[in-house]
Order: sequence, then structure tokens, then C-alpha cells
Amino acid sequence: MAEILGVGITHYPPLLGYPKTYANLLRGISHSHLVPEDMRKPENWPKGMQEEWEDEAAQAEMHQLRHKTALKEVRKVIDDFAPDAILMFGDDQYENFKEDIIPPFNMYCMDEFPARPFTFINSVDNIWGVDPGHTFNVPGAGKLARELANEVISRHYPIAYSYKYANHPTLSHAFSNAMVFLDWEQEGWPYPIIPVSVNCYGKGVVSTRGGAAHLFDKRPDSEKDDYLDRPGPAGPTPRSCFQLGETIGEVLRDRPERFVVMASSGWSHAFLTEKNHWLYPDRDFDRARFEELNAGNQRLWPELENDAIDDAGCQEFKNWICLSGVVPDTKADIIDYLETWIFNSQKCFAVFRP
Ligand SMILES: [Fe+2]
Repeated sequence: MAEILGVGITHYPPLLGYPKTYANLLRGISHSHLVPEDMRKPENWPKGMQEEWEDEAAQAEMHQLRHKTALKEVRKVIDDFAPDAILMFGDDQYENFKEDIIPPFNMYCMDEFPARPFTFINSVDNIWGVDPGHTFNVPGAGKLARELANEVISRHYPIAYSYKYANHPTLSHAFSNAMVFLDWEQEGWPYPIIPVSVNCYGKGVVSTRGGAAHLFDKRPDSEKDDYLDRPGPAGPTPRSCFQLGETIGEVLRDRPERFVVMASSGWSHAFLTEKNHWLYPDRDFDRARFEELNAGNQRLWPELENDAIDDAGCQEFKNWICLSGVVPDTKADIIDYLETWIFNSQKCFAVFRP
């Protein structure tokens, strides 16, 4: 019976760049025509947000240091475990999931994954000084992935799969960023991966173009497209995410290999939290999830509703719900939990030891 190590990390794109750029998303969104005039002024922000903003440079440095420390610890746990393959849940932000096909989940069954992670932040320099056009070749466990897809489908959980990228030229950000962050010293990434994309953004994946495009779209309603610019059908529910995880867990445990199963994502995102004028994340929602994780109560997560997740701007948390189905009764070791007002998203780092 296979051993499974569960891992949760973030793929926070600004971490590719310098700390002084971490709050640029907030700066940009505060100029959106959808943000009320008074909320563009820091003096009208919540008190904690004002304090973090006034100390931005030092807070950003600390944010980077805590990421780096946690990621190195996670990497050590993975190395000590020595997996045969890593199955990763990550969101697709209008990268491969576009108008032609949007499955709830898609498993990539490929032997290698060309990745250009630094193109995601083309506007700022990456801290490693790597040419953004440089292609990393991340190894894939394609044959194993095909067997897993077959087993998952045969156990009555239909899942899409593919042998090439549908639209995005290289490995999408949730996976490629994770590869960079877990190889902080740029020594190379040895473990073959099985990426599973999750349609976390659901009804907004097209209408927001995978995130925040609508915040800068000044066209009048009459000029908007009924398909492209209106909310689409729902993304997978938390229950279906959890059930996918349960099925994958069953399949993996029946095999001889050693697997890491990883969730790659931050939790609530400012740019998805309408009730906070897209300026800061839903810290209370995340705090409740953190307390549940800390108590080993992740079996409560399939009870969440899509509407509550969308209201909290916590769409990417669905990656963690998929993971929780794989390790529903394992109490996590929490490596760090980063709360923030001004750096877009809350982050958690945790491992679920076998
Ligand atoms: Fe993402």
C-alpha cells in the first residue's frame, strides 16, 4: 500500500519578484473605476491595513522571509519522504481552461512539462535574474498519470485528462510557480509531477479572464458579450472537490509507489473579494478554515458552499479541499500561516505526514 504525504503551499506570483513590488496589485486595483472614491484613500481602510501599509517595506521583506523559510522546510520534508511522483492540485486562471473547454478538473498525462514561470510577472524583474524566456523542463509522470486517470474514472469519478496543453504554451502558473518556489536555490527539480487543474474560478473564469480583468473594463454594459462577459456556469462544488480527493486517495493507496499530493494555492484573494472592494482578503473566513485545519477538522470543508467561497474570494481554496479528501483524517503539521491586508492573499504552509 502506497504511502502518501500531503503538502499545502502557495504559488503567490509576486514572490517571483522583489518584495518592493508585492503591494503593486493593491496599488493597481485602487485605481479601478469600481472601487469607491473614499476607499482609494488609505485613511479609510481598516486600521490593521493602514498599519501594514505604513510599514510596507519591512512587512514585505518579512513576508518574503517567511515564505522562503516555510518553502525550504516543505522541500526538506518532501526530500526526506523521497516520492516517486507528485500529484498537484492547482487552479487554472484562464490559461488552458478557455472558451473551447472548461472541465471541472483536468489531469495532465505528459512525460515532460516545459515551464516559463517568469513570463507571469513580465512587468517586474524576478529575484533570480533568470531570462523570462528561459524554459525549464519539469519532469512528468505521464504513463503513471494515464493509469491513475483510468482508475479514477473506473471508480465512478469522471475526470478529464489531456496529453498536451489546450491553450497555454507552457505549464500553467499554479504548478510552475510551485516548482520555482520549492527549488529556491535553483538546484533542479527531480520529482516527476502529475498536475491536476481545478476550475477554482468557476463562474468567473471567463468573465474575469481568470482574475481581475473586469476591474479595468470600462465598456458600458451594452457593449459586453453575453457569453464572455457575464458569469458562467458554476465551478466544481467543495463536495465534488473533496470526493475527487477521496477517490484519488483510494487509487493511490492501492498502488506500490510513494506519492506526495500537493495543493498549490493561497487562500482568500483581495482581487476576488468584492465585499472588500477587491482591496483586501476575507481574513475572518480564512481564520475559520485555519482553526479547522489546526484541529484536524478538514472533513468540514465539503460542507462549504460555492456561494460562500466566492463571497470570501477564496476560490483557490478548492485546491486545498481536493487535498483534504486525500488525507481527510490526518492532522496537519502547520509550518506557517501568513495573514495580510496589503499583499493580496493569505497563505498557509502545511504537511500531512503519513
Ligand atoms: Fe492562482
